[in-house]
Amino acid sequence: MNDLGGQVVVITGATGHLGHAVVAAFLEGGAHVAAPHRDGSGVEEIRQAFAGAGERLWLEAADLGDETSMARFAESVVRRFGRIDALAALAGGFAAGPVADTNVEAIRALFEQNVVTAYTTIRAVLPHMRARAYGRIVCVAARPALHGAKNTAGYAIAKAGVVRLMESLADEVKDEGITVNAVLPSTIDHPVNRANMPKADPKKWVSPGELAAVILFLSSPRASGVTGAAIPVFGRV
Ligand SMILES: NC(=O)c1ccc[n+]([C@@H]2O[C@H](COP(=O)([O-])OP(=O)(O)OC[C@H]3O[C@@H](n4cnc5c(N)ncnc54)[C@H](OP(=O)(O)O)[C@@H]3O)[C@@H](O)[C@H]2O)c1
Repeated sequence: MNDLGGQVVVITGATGHLGHAVVAAFLEGGAHVAAPHRDGSGVEEIRQAFAGAGERLWLEAADLGDETSMARFAESVVRRFGRIDALAALAGGFAAGPVADTNVEAIRALFEQNVVTAYTTIRAVLPHMRARAYGRIVCVAARPALHGAKNTAGYAIAKAGVVRLMESLADEVKDEGITVNAVLPSTIDHPVNRANMPKADPKKWVSPGELAAVILFLSSPRASGVTGAAIPVFGRV
């Protein structure tokens, strides 16, 4: 069942590995996709890969670290497509290392990359969702958000922050027709992870398509009964 036809979805991190799969899945489902990107990213690759979507895919430069830039982006989406039904906040990044070797700047960078990018985008789309009393927000956290382990402090702190943000907002908007959830992938099966972990068995990892399917469901009108959920999507580990 597909109820995404005509839906307007903002996707951050569209230029990434997961981003490609999620953009593809939303476009296949008939949605309109608006993706903010930064200069020098793989935006041309996306433009070419999904050229067939025509005006249903709109890519616009915006700074995920800047509230004014993101507010402007959201206003442009509404001018172009009339509304924002869903946000898939995929932008984020990973770094590993023991606490003894991870300075505060590295922690701040992970917080900026994972929490601030989600926070600014959520604050930009929220007024537009509230105005229509409808919205779906899906954040991407990660397995270490549930439990830190050696060499993951910075990433675990940041992704736990994403989950706490999701829970707080879900509680704030639960009576306004807006749902807020997070997916917690383990390792995603993509070429960079395969290259970095040559001895691992990628069949155990979650594929971008599997993760995209969960994100699509949570972004759809029929997911009205799920909010405030941190959903493990671990594949087969
Ligand atoms: N890979 C995994 O195994 C794994 C596991 C669990 C969770 N996750 C999470 O899943 C999400 C997608 O991961 P991925 O593997 O697809 O990563 P990826 O290929 O590195 O893509 C990351 C995306 O986020 C964007 N991004 C990162 N920092 C940004 C910033 N400060 N401002 C604007 N855009 C920014 C990147 O934009 P540019 O193209 O401009 O760099 C890119 O589009 C991330 O949130 C990641 O933490 C990944």
